[in-house]
Amino acid sequence: MTPDFAKFLADSQQRVQQSLPTALSNTGSEYADADASTKLQRLSEASIYSLMNGGKRVRASLVYATAHALGQGTSPGLDEIACAIEMIHAYSLVHDDLPAMDDDDLRRGKPTCHIAFDEATAILVGDALQARAFEVLTNLPGENASAKLALIRQLSAAAGPRGMVGGQAIDLAAVDQQLDLAALQTMHQLKTGALIRVAIAMSAIWCGASEQQLSQLDRYGKAIGLSFQVQDDIIDIESNTETLGKTQGADQALNKPTFPALLGMLGAKQLAQDLHAEALKSLSDFDERATPLRDLSHYIIARNH
Ligand code: IPE
Ligand code: IPE
Ligand code: MG
Ligand code: MG
Ligand code: MG
Repeated sequence: MTPDFAKFLADSQQRVQQSLPTALSNTGSEYADADASTKLQRLSEASIYSLMNGGKRVRASLVYATAHALGQGTSPGLDEIACAIEMIHAYSLVHDDLPAMDDDDLRRGKPTCHIAFDEATAILVGDALQARAFEVLTNLPGENASAKLALIRQLSAAAGPRGMVGGQAIDLAAVDQQLDLAALQTMHQLKTGALIRVAIAMSAIWCGASEQQLSQLDRYGKAIGLSFQVQDDIIDIESNTETLGKTQGADQALNKPTFPALLGMLGAKQLAQDLHAEALKSLSDFDERATPLRDLSHYIIARNH
């Protein structure tokens, strides 16, 4: 990792980390009733626990890096967009870990939400984070209502049955089954790719990218969205529980269809490399301001957690 990229990543992580508590607690729909807020304390604590507890903040970093590539890195509203996406992502992890789904007890190096709190609370945390994410987007600054609506439409599609939730449904239905390459790609594009791709698309739309830039950035987003889950499958085998912050070997234990299972470890690594090359190619018309995006693509396939 170059020193410049390390700084970019640390700055992005810090920027979203600072914005998230406000996004979670202050969107203008607070309860005035003190009794209600006491009863809501457990939900609030569990939401903070799941949202603030670590995470690489790759999706937030992609929002900032896309804006940077377009010369708009300090545009107002990027923090809200980054927060909304990280909230949807955190919700997806809380639900992904539930006993009815992957039944995991470790996440981001700590007990999963349903272990630290309880299952009903974890379900509600996911529901709450999801709703809040959209509320945050309605509070984006400025008068550009059509851009705000476009962002809400993008995120709802990427999070929903034609995006992340659809991919999770396919993932659960595919346990103990042999998927072919096309089906596995579709599953990964949906369950993980969609939210990564939309982080880039939302930032680009918000920054007023041209049609051509949108299409090139979307090609980049599609490539790294898939490579992200290919690498997630690889490190589930090759990394260790402490580094991962989640249980190593979880996919094999549940007999999940993964890229290493289908292509072998070498094949999966080659695919990750090919997707990285495709991502770089998609950015060939961009100047040096797209360096953080290029570096993020490399980071995604080189990470061990
Ligand atoms: C893990 O996502 C789940 C997948 C979609 C593969 P991340 O690896 O981005 O998790 P955090 O946010 O860094 O914990
Ligand atoms: C999760 O995929 C994708 C989500 C939508 C959360 P995984 O089930 O492989 O994610 P991890 O490995 O538990 O983080
Ligand atoms: Mg899963
Ligand atoms: Mg899982
Ligand atoms: Mg995984």
